[in-house]
Amino acid sequence: MNILVMGAGSIGSLFGGLLSLDNDVTLIGRKPHMKKIEEKGLKIVGKTDVVVYPKVACNPREIKLEPDVILLTVKSYDTERAICDIKDLITEGTMIMSLQNGLDNLEKILSHVKKENVVAAVTTEAAMLLEPGVVEHTGKGKTVLGHLGDDAKKVKPIVDTFNRAGLRSTISTNIQRDIWRKAIVNSCINPVTAIFGIRNGKILESETLQDLVERVCKESTSVANSMGMNFDLSEMKEEVFRVIRDTANNYSSMVQSLRRKSRTEIDSINGYICNTGKKNGVDVTLNELLTKFIKIMEVYK
Ligand SMILES: NC(=O)c1ccc[n+]([C@@H]2O[C@H](COP(=O)([O-])OP(=O)(O)OC[C@H]3O[C@@H](n4cnc5c(N)ncnc54)[C@H](OP(=O)(O)O)[C@@H]3O)[C@@H](O)[C@H]2O)c1
Repeated sequence: MNILVMGAGSIGSLFGGLLSLDNDVTLIGRKPHMKKIEEKGLKIVGKTDVVVYPKVACNPREIKLEPDVILLTVKSYDTERAICDIKDLITEGTMIMSLQNGLDNLEKILSHVKKENVVAAVTTEAAMLLEPGVVEHTGKGKTVLGHLGDDAKKVKPIVDTFNRAGLRSTISTNIQRDIWRKAIVNSCINPVTAIFGIRNGKILESETLQDLVERVCKESTSVANSMGMNFDLSEMKEEVFRVIRDTANNYSSMVQSLRRKSRTEIDSINGYICNTGKKNGVDVTLNELLTKFIKIMEVYK
């Protein structure tokens, strides 16, 4: 399969790197990382230990390709720009696959690409770019994929390709619900850990933080249900606390972004939940407050 990875940072380098063992993969990313990969290959460490040699470029306009699949792995605030950059490489048969977190990526993609060409994915694989040329596979997980035109046949070859590369994957029966489920979990854990600069597991040491997380979960779940997602609140709370326990030693991506003094994905998670809640008449007081706190922290970082 001919695969292009748009935004090869942490997760894009992991997926693109593993897929390059058995496929023709081109990574598009920032110059220092791409240059190192060109010189020495991409080193994957941690849960996987391998050096791979995908093709690289810094700008999609530099390359001539007809990719079967384009993995979109930029942060959600870069989605619009990235889609415009790759537009000319999209042919009738190209599948654009978002591996991103956040609730607004598909809307942005669909404003440029037909839904027949779009696949959404939710993954619990985890990765971190350690230095140019080196990515750590920090957690092994699972990936679910769903075609936005509801044509499972279009996703099956991608699922098979992922599984052959060791990326455990299945076809989702309701990808929108899977996206909301992950966003609810992120809406509870990310801003709370980012505001206090703590590891996920610290939440379990404070009754006050646990109470806050439960209340955010209730709000976010109500918003998701106002969109027809039909989540059971007690199951959702269980899921949030299971993720906190499973990732107790990790700093959430929002903590890491603020530490690097870069933007967070707050607008695509809690911000999106706020806007949706307001449209649908659901109370979003806590999501609004958390969004504002993080926006202030982004400015005064
Ligand atoms: N990391 C994980 O474990 C993980 C797991 C599941 C889902 N996700 C989701 O996947 C998405 C990506 O996360 P990530 O952690 O991989 O982010 P990341 O490490 O920041 O990777 C994105 C990369 O894309 C680059 N980029 C952005 N626009 C570009 C452009 N136009 N051309 C070339 N390169 C461009 C970024 O460079 P700059 O930083 O210089 O802009 C960055 O190197 C997010 O939505 C995240 O929530 C991540």
